[in-house]
This record gives sequence, C-alpha cells and structure tokens, in this order.
Amino acid sequence: MKLLIISIIAYLLGSFSSAYVVGKLYKNIDIREHGSGNAGATNAMRVLGKPAGIVTFVLDALKSIVSVVIGLQLYGYYGGLVAAIFTVIGHNWPLFFGFKGGKGIVATITTMAILQFKLTLISVIIGLIVGVITKYVSLLSITFLISLIVITFTGLISVDIYTKLTILFLSLMGIYRHRSNIKRLINGKENKFGGKSSER
Ligand code: G3P
Repeated sequence: MKLLIISIIAYLLGSFSSAYVVGKLYKNIDIREHGSGNAGATNAMRVLGKPAGIVTFVLDALKSIVSVVIGLQLYGYYGGLVAAIFTVIGHNWPLFFGFKGGKGIVATITTMAILQFKLTLISVIIGLIVGVITKYVSLLSITFLISLIVITFTGLISVDIYTKLTILFLSLMGIYRHRSNIKRLINGKENKFGGKSSER
C-alpha cells in the first residue's frame, strides 16, 4: 500500500513539467512546439535562454529530490527506488500536460544521486567528458545512461538486484526517449550545444 502511495505521489510530482511552465511564464509559448520539441532543461535553454534553462533544471531537480525524500521517508531505500522510477515516468509522460513531457535525464540524475551517489557521479562525469568533447547534450545523456548500466552490470560498483533493475529500467527508458536524437546524430543533424536550434 505504501509503495502504491509513493508511486502516485512520485508520478504526480514528476508530472510537473517545469519546462512547459517556464516556457509559458517567460515567453507564453508551448516549449514542445519549439526547438527539439522536448519539455526539458536543454530545450528550455535553447529556446528560452540560459536563465530559463537553469530555472527549469533547478525545478526538475527539486521535484525529483522532494519525490525521493518522500519515498525514503515512507518506505526506506526501496521506497526511494520506486519514487525514482515514477518521478521519471511522470516527467516523461506528465498527467497534467497531455502525457507529452521530457526525456528524464535531470530527474534520473537527481533521483539516483540521492540513492546511489558514487555510481551516479561517475556516470555523470563520463557523460560530461563525452558531452564536452562532442558538444552534443543528447550524447552526454545517452553516455550517462549507458555508463549507469555498464558500471552496475559489470559489478564495478555493486548494488542489489532491485537497484540494478531500477537502473536498467530508467536507462532503457531514457535511451528510448532519445530515439529522435539518435536518428539526428546518425544523420549528422543533431543540435550542438550553443549552436543553432534543430528540427524536431
Ligand atoms: O536531456 C535531454 C537532452 O539529452 C536532449 O535534449 O532538447 O536536445 O532533445 P534535446
């Protein structure tokens, strides 16, 4: 019962689409109709500018922190894992915004950083190295997600089976959400950070 309550709270919190709200407040636009069409911090920065991108990032991080803390309080570590999963699902398919949300990277980083700090930090660093070299935020994100899987499943950092399954689920979901980015990367049409806005 507690896990069900955590799932619902986390899904609802995740469903707060910061990028959409910030887009409306800053420029009265639907961010999902601009830039990459993604309701996330990267596209908010691209379409609305740096301050709006940072505000979106912070709000997405905050909702993720609140969600995991509630999960931890109600059901300990496993409550936190369930909260992480449903926060990201809510972010990607938000109840309040026609189920059209983001790709869940900030939510995945924040929730997993609370639960598995070392693993998340190392994966973020690997992602950042690739992102800084290539200037593709999407490649940063995909590398981060793949690193989570590799580090966990090779046993470089040992975690229990529930954490492994959570990481596998979150990572595959995140990679799935990047399928349009992957196509653009293959076709050489992906946005470079700081470059011109792309097709959707
Ligand atoms: O976290 C999202 C990022 O990886 C890609 O965003 O807007 O370029 O599709 P975007």
